[in-house]
Amino acid sequence: MSVPLVRAEQARAVMLELFPDGFEEVDGLGGVELAAYTDAGGEERLWQAFGGASSVDVPEDWQERWRTFHRPVRVGPVWIGPPWEEPPPGALAVVIDPGRAFGTGSHPTTRLCVELLLTLAPGASLVDLGCGSGVLSIAAARLGFGPVVALDSDPEAVEATVANAARNGVRVDAREADAIHDPLPASDLAVANMTLGLVEQLAPPARCGRLITSGYLVSERPSLPGFEPIERRASDGWAADLLARQTG
Ligand SMILES: C[S@@+](CC[C@H](N)C(=O)[O-])C[C@H]1O[C@@H](n2cnc3c(N)ncnc32)[C@H](O)[C@@H]1O
Repeated sequence: MSVPLVRAEQARAVMLELFPDGFEEVDGLGGVELAAYTDAGGEERLWQAFGGASSVDVPEDWQERWRTFHRPVRVGPVWIGPPWEEPPPGALAVVIDPGRAFGTGSHPTTRLCVELLLTLAPGASLVDLGCGSGVLSIAAARLGFGPVVALDSDPEAVEATVANAARNGVRVDAREADAIHDPLPASDLAVANMTLGLVEQLAPPARCGRLITSGYLVSERPSLPGFEPIERRASDGWAADLLARQTG
């Protein structure tokens, strides 16, 4: 679906609501192209939201084929890439095969979370809420954070995280859990790259001193009672925040 630049931010917000696990965005002439892999139900929701969208049938094995588009990204010293690419010498390599889980590392929200991790002193314990492929947990472990616990409500994400942690030779305790409704482990730091709606529900359950949040747009700011904003990063219309628990 093509959207003119002036409407891009609004359209991204709607796409995020409709497809919280992710959608694709490609810059075009005077606008952006937004695309989601979905079924007939999703196509109908797109039509209802935008009053029009073009669709093409993709092969049954698209979830495997899209791997050809999995390209490495660099965030400071951290290189995030697929198993079939060679990390440059001296880089802190995070090798990710996301399988069917979200998180190749290339999404701006994931990159922004890594950027904020890089501003913090390593050594702190970390809980990754909504770990997807495990990309943030593994990057954190590579940077010297630990122990690292990775939680996701999707069993395929937990499976992908376990496999990716083993591939990278790092220790990550990956478990299936609902970050909003299940009791969460205490940690110095938590990262939550989810949606604004989910992030905002974390204030009571999150048991951490600092919290990195993302999964929402630059125009949005999470309201998390008990936490104060410390730093914000933005890229391609997306934002990530570092928050600290208020004392006293
Ligand atoms: C946008 S992906 C982020 C993946 C990865 N952390 C990254 O930064 O690339 C969000 C993840 O949150 C998970 N998720 C959604 N709701 C959740 C919940 N209530 N509890 C735990 N995980 C959840 C999804 O399954 C998905 O893997």
